[in-house]
Amino acid sequence: MQKIFWYSLLIFLIVVTITLVVVVDQKLAVSTPTFSEKEEKLSLLHHIDQKIDYFHYDYLDRYLAYQEKNPNLSDIDIITRVNLGLDQPFYENTKQSNHLNQTSILVNKYLFLPEDYIPNNLVEISKDFSNSTKMLVYEAKENFEKMCQKAKDEGYTIRAISAYRSYDYQKQLYDNYVSKDGVDLADTYSARPGYSEHQTGLVVDVDNGNQNYEQFEQTKEFSWMQENAHLYGFILRYPKEKEEITGYQYESWHYRYVGKEIASILSNNHLTLDEYFVRYIEK
Ligand code: DAL
Ligand code: ZN
Repeated sequence: MQKIFWYSLLIFLIVVTITLVVVVDQKLAVSTPTFSEKEEKLSLLHHIDQKIDYFHYDYLDRYLAYQEKNPNLSDIDIITRVNLGLDQPFYENTKQSNHLNQTSILVNKYLFLPEDYIPNNLVEISKDFSNSTKMLVYEAKENFEKMCQKAKDEGYTIRAISAYRSYDYQKQLYDNYVSKDGVDLADTYSARPGYSEHQTGLVVDVDNGNQNYEQFEQTKEFSWMQENAHLYGFILRYPKEKEEITGYQYESWHYRYVGKEIASILSNNHLTLDEYFVRYIEK
């Protein structure tokens, strides 16, 4: 009698174990792509993951969806843009920057600054090179003045007409633009408060003291800046034909201090700070 009990218990346990194994196996098969499925997806991206170190395997499906919508983009551009978040609408899934007070900080329509953020070491730009009291972070200010002085020595006038802007000041500007032009248009040329890199103290809008800043592109000072700005660590932050990446209309007057090394790389390779940031800084 006892023997029958133990045999039955053994058979029962075996059945339960087999059932559990079968169920778990089926579940795994449904939720985890098989090795060959993943390989197939990677082959659609020409195994770019083997050539770059900023490929996020957890974004694989987003890369493929973006590729389907943008068949003319290179694999590198697909990865870069999805890493930036460009497959999702601007101002959604935003995140606070964790590079405060660094010259390589990226602020854009996905990365914002705290409302109470004021950069360290803000100092006034010399009145020789600004139209009124304007502030920049010390390192940016020093290089801006050197650049303006060199330009002056060569017969050009470059001066700051806007530089550091507080959260509250940016809010006033943006709100005014919205009441004038509506949100959609305002968003193409003005940053929402907290999303303006003017709040980093690393940005300066310039003119030549003669023409309106919006005509800066037509001035000889603009050509001089094209040749020389990067030697002083400044880049044209919102270039032509990069609007989709930066999220802003071309601005010939808006220069961002990133330091000489990054400025040279960006200018020699026609890269925006956004592209550089996700490829080399926050991978
Ligand atoms: N005009 C630039 C995008 C700003 O508002 O910061
Ligand atoms: Zn600006």
